[in-house]
Amino acid sequence: MLEKRLSTERRHAPKKIAYNDLDLSNWKQYDDILTDSLWDIPSRERSAGHKLDYHGNCVPQILTQMLKRYTKAGETIVDFFLGSGTSAIESHRLDRRCIGIEIQPAMVDYVQEKIQELGADASTQIINADSSDKTWTGKKIRQALQETNLTHSQFAFLHPPYADIIRFSSLEKDLSNADSTEAFLEGFQRVAELAFEVLEKNRFAALVIGDKYTDGELIPLGFYCMERMNRAGFKTKSIIVKNMTGNEKGKGRTANLWRYRALAGGFYLFKHEYVMVFQKP
Ligand SMILES: C[S@@+](CC[C@H](N)C(=O)[O-])C[C@H]1O[C@@H](n2cnc3c(N)ncnc32)[C@H](O)[C@@H]1O
Repeated sequence: MLEKRLSTERRHAPKKIAYNDLDLSNWKQYDDILTDSLWDIPSRERSAGHKLDYHGNCVPQILTQMLKRYTKAGETIVDFFLGSGTSAIESHRLDRRCIGIEIQPAMVDYVQEKIQELGADASTQIINADSSDKTWTGKKIRQALQETNLTHSQFAFLHPPYADIIRFSSLEKDLSNADSTEAFLEGFQRVAELAFEVLEKNRFAALVIGDKYTDGELIPLGFYCMERMNRAGFKTKSIIVKNMTGNEKGKGRTANLWRYRALAGGFYLFKHEYVMVFQKP
C-alpha cells in the first residue's frame, strides 16, 4: 500500500526545468508550446493591448513562446530594440518584467503611454539609449536591474532593424542608418556583446531577423548576425524559420508586380524570417 502510494507520488512529483515554469511530469499538457523549427503563425495576436501600430513590430506570439520556454514568472528580460513595446506588453501579460532600450525618443514616449494605459508601468522600465553603446547603456541597464536587486537579466531579446530595409529614424546611431552591411554588423555585435554581459549565466537570448537583397544579391543578414552572436560568446541552440505575416512584400495590390520581378530576376520573394535561440554558456 505504502509502496503503491510512493510510486504514485513519484509519478506525479513535479519535474522542473531550471529556467522556466514548465512541469515535465505533465509535458503532454503543453500543446501551446512549439518545439518544431518551422513556425507557421496564421495571424498576429491582437488581444491584451497588442496591435499592428508600428511598421516592423514582431508578432507577439514570438515573445509568448520565448518567455514561456526560457523564463519563469517574476523574472526580468532585456529587449535591446523595444520599438512599439511588444515585449513589454507580453512580459506584463505573462507576469514577467521588461527593461526595454529604444533609440527614438518619440517611440519611448509612445510606449510609455501605452504601457500606462495597460497598467504595465510597474513591470516595465524603458531606457532611451543606443544599445550599441556598451558603456553608457550598459550602466543604465545595470541601474535598472539594481532597482529590483538584480545584477543580471534572465533573458535577452534582440529584434534589430534588418539593416536598411526599413529606415526607422534619421538618428545617426540607429542601426538602420548604418552605411554598409559591415557597419551594421559591427554595431549589432556591440549590442550582442552587451546582451551577453548583462545576461545571467546559462540563460537564453532570442534574435529575430530576416535577410535582404542588394543589387540582385541575397545578403544573409540572419546568418551574419548569428555569427556575431557567437563572436560575442553565445552558443547557438536553434534556428527557427517563421512565416512573415502582415509585413511581407508581395501582398495586396503589388503582389503581381513582385511576382513578375521574381520571375524576371531569378530570385524568390522572402516569406520567412528567423527566430534564433542562443544560450550563454
Ligand atoms: C525591428 S524594430 C523592433 C520592433 C519591436 N520588436 C516591436 O515589436 O515593436 C527595431 C527598433 O530598433 C530601434 N533601434 C535602431 N537602432 C537602435 C539602437 N542603436 N539602439 C536602440 N534601438 C535602436 C529602432 O528605432 C526600431 O524601433
